[in-house]
Formats: sequence, structure tokens, C-alpha cells
Amino acid sequence: MASRAAEWALGDEIEIVARAVDVPFGTVPGQAADAVIEGRAVRLRRAVRGDAERFREILGHPAVARWWGDAHSEAAEACDPPENIRAYAIEYEGTVVGLIQSCEEPTPEYRSAGLDIAVDAHRHGRGIGGDALHTLARHLFEVAGHHRLTIDPAADNAGAIRLYRRLGFRPVGLMRQYERRPDGTLRDGLLMDLLADELVAPGRS
Ligand SMILES: CC(C)(COP(=O)(O)OP(=O)(O)OC[C@H]1O[C@@H](n2cnc3c(N)ncnc32)[C@H](O)[C@@H]1OP(=O)(O)O)[C@@H](O)C(=O)NCCC(=O)NCCS
Repeated sequence: MASRAAEWALGDEIEIVARAVDVPFGTVPGQAADAVIEGRAVRLRRAVRGDAERFREILGHPAVARWWGDAHSEAAEACDPPENIRAYAIEYEGTVVGLIQSCEEPTPEYRSAGLDIAVDAHRHGRGIGGDALHTLARHLFEVAGHHRLTIDPAADNAGAIRLYRRLGFRPVGLMRQYERRPDGTLRDGLLMDLLADELVAPGRS
């Protein structure tokens, strides 16, 4: 049986062949078809090691850090993710303004992908997060063949939950004491999910 890494590599090859006409300008031969995903105003580019410092900066800002884990380890993992995670730098006007990732549940009966996002605190409220989430969700439905996506904000992350609802995510339920914070305290999470025909394009960007 092929290893998981080999399956992913094979999947990428199939995706390249199947979407040859859709491969974005600038994609080099041999590069995965999802190396760059174009959004309305943002562009998602697969994260590379050189993104680590910028990711640390974004994740280390107090307005972001309160909703994410340790900035150093999260940034390092995003740049060198395990095989079931795809991490992207969110680029806007040529600058990295955030990161977004999908985490695949590969078990065939439960196949789905979870999303995670952080936007530079100085750019919040300008439509970047909505555009990036909509872009990656559309890719996961239309290209990767998922039928269900999940996201799990902290239960008191009201701004993020509002945005996810507007994109079509629905609350599934409260996950009590879901997340252990860097200071050791436990926090509730809200599980939300989105089916393929429920995705709503963000109003502004
Ligand atoms: C949650 C998060 C990713 C959203 O990203 P964002 O870029 O701020 O999101 P958007 O701008 O698309 O939408 C958020 C708000 O901006 C508004 N907005 C959207 N486009 C806009 C525009 N062009 N001009 C002004 N406001 C705009 C939206 O209406 C929304 O407002 P509201 O929620 O107050 O009603 C971002 O705030 C963030 O990184 N937060 C910290 C980390 C975090 O919580 N991550 C989520 C963990 S699950």
C-alpha cells in the first residue's frame, strides 16, 4: 500500500493533470496545483520556511495571540506542516497579511477539512479574512472534492463567529473545555460546519 505521503504526492499529480488549464500564471512545472490559489483580492500561496518570521509577527500581536496558541511553535508548524495540513500565506497587494490553513481528516467515511486563519491585526475589518476563507473553502469544495468543512473558534470569539456565519458556517455545538491555553487554562470552543452548497461569498473586500 502506498504511504500517505505518496498518496498526497499522487493526488497532487492528478490535480495538476486534471486542472492543467487552471494552473495559475507563474506556477512552475512539478509544482502542486494548489501552490497558488487566487481569491477576489487576496492570493493564497503555500507557506514556505521563509514565511516563519512574518507569521510569528502576525501571530504574536496580542489581538491575534489571544485566539491562537504559542506564536513561535504555530509559525514553525505552518511553515513545515504535517502531511494532513496545508498552510498558505495570505498575500494582499504583494504583502503577506496573514495565514490560513486546512487540516484534512482523511478517513474516507469522515472525510472533511478543518480551517484556521489569522490576519495581521493592522488589517482587520477590511475583508481580507472573509476573502481568504471563501477562497480556500471554494478550493476545498471544487478542487479537493470535500463536501463538508469545519471551523472551531473559541466560544467567546464573537467577531470571528459573526464572520463565519456570514460565510455560511452553522454552529454545531459547544465543545466544553476544548482548548488548553498557553497559560494552562481551558477554554470552550464552538464547532461550526459548512456544506458545499451553503458557502456564501463575502459582501465586501
Ligand atoms: C477573525 C479574522 C480572521 C477575520 O479577518 P478580517 O480580515 O478581520 O475579516 P473581514 O474583514 O473579512 O470581516 C470581519 C469584519 O470586517 C467587516 N468588513 C469586511 N469587509 C470590509 C471592508 N472592506 N471594510 C471594512 N470592513 C469590512 C466585516 O463586515 C466584518 O465586520 P463585523 O464582524 O464587525 O460585522 C481576524 O479578525 C483575525 O485574525 N482575528 C484574530 C485571530 C482569530 O480570531 N482567528 C480565528 C481563529 S478561529
